[in-house]
Amino acid sequence: MSKLALLGGNKVRPELFPGYKVIGAEEKAAVDRVIESGVLSRFLGCWHEDFYGGPEVQALEAEWAAYFGVKHAVSVNSATSGLYCAVGATGAGPGDEIIVSPYTMAASATAALAYNAVPVFADIEPDCFCLSAESVAQKITERTKAILVVDIFGQPYDVDGINALAKKHGLMVIEDAAQAPGATFRGKFAGALGDIGVYSLNYHKHIHSGEGGIVVTDDALLAEKVRLIRNHAEVVVGAKGFTDLVNMIGFNLRMTELEAAVAREQLKKLSGLLKQRQANVTYLNEQLRQIPCLTMPKVRPGAEHASYVHAIKFDAAVAGVDRNRFIEAVKAELSPSMLREREGVNMGCGYVKPIYLEPIYQNLIGYGDKGCPFKCPWYKGELNYGKGLCPTTERMHYDELFTHELMRPPMSKQDLDDVVAAFVKVWQNRQELKA
Ligand SMILES: Cc1ncc(COP(=O)(O)O)c(C=O)c1O
Repeated sequence: MSKLALLGGNKVRPELFPGYKVIGAEEKAAVDRVIESGVLSRFLGCWHEDFYGGPEVQALEAEWAAYFGVKHAVSVNSATSGLYCAVGATGAGPGDEIIVSPYTMAASATAALAYNAVPVFADIEPDCFCLSAESVAQKITERTKAILVVDIFGQPYDVDGINALAKKHGLMVIEDAAQAPGATFRGKFAGALGDIGVYSLNYHKHIHSGEGGIVVTDDALLAEKVRLIRNHAEVVVGAKGFTDLVNMIGFNLRMTELEAAVAREQLKKLSGLLKQRQANVTYLNEQLRQIPCLTMPKVRPGAEHASYVHAIKFDAAVAGVDRNRFIEAVKAELSPSMLREREGVNMGCGYVKPIYLEPIYQNLIGYGDKGCPFKCPWYKGELNYGKGLCPTTERMHYDELFTHELMRPPMSKQDLDDVVAAFVKVWQNRQELKA
């Protein structure tokens, strides 16, 4: 028995893990090309041929649409912006509800607030962690405008269950695929499984351009509304002769030529990077299964998971010690990853706090100090953001789930074995934690 690092013993892995560095010579050449051109953005915020952006932006959009098998791809400066555009394009507004998961990055829900609609939180599935169709069904009202699903951790949402509900009730499905580029369901790419999908190109994602996002849809009108919202719609609609003025308050959410040029190179790397990540997860699953208190992630039948993070369930009754203490001990055995040293070991208990427990939902204060949009006179529903609202989400977050990123390429077999060894050591010495 060796002493746990948490209690003063030696670490299993004292050296840093390799960093996820996916930017290389190809991206450098692409950036040089743009710099040489002297035109870092060609967008004009008026009705003009440059309303749609410059050559890199337009090439990225065409390549993205071809890769993901969709008719339209629209670049934006982040997935957050993309979600705002997507919600705006559905026509959602004051008085409307958008059903969303509470177990996602905050922007998935904030996108509703951006249009003065209110997020209604449905619970998640206990094994796939995406929105539960059963829970969504209970939340649909005459005010519901859309269901905003999230392919959380890289797992495609329950397409059959959610899309059937949307069809039955005439609702749009907005798919937040920020964490799932390259994931598939029955051969179709995540992002393209609903009416309108959104990807992220931020630094932490599978592929990135620093910041960035892409909205995809097969619907030409939705795509054009997204392009308008991205680029000062209010001064474009008149000259363009676009007569549907709902949500045509525009922003500047445009991507630059630099980011587009980088993203084009990154797209070429997506499939290779994804395969390595998936192989690493398969290996870790095989190895970690030997630890009785851990349950490896389920992949939805028919789906290919993009493994944005490795989400594992922990059974405290089997371990005889609670999740937080166990994971604290595992982290103490390991070291951070290069490039992200300041974040500590890339492993955490749960994921993000259930969104409805954040202060703006608890206090119902959004725009100004009068409770808008929650208490907007157009809103006729009764909001519930109380603790206990989504029991599965709360159980996963506070007791059962943990996530880590120690499977990103270029983790070697030795690196992965060190991760496994840390878990095995803590499992074998868990009695020490009880004391
Ligand atoms: C599920 C999800 N949605 C939206 C976003 C927002 O992405 P971005 O940082 O590109 O705005 C993220 C980012 O982490 C995310 O994970």
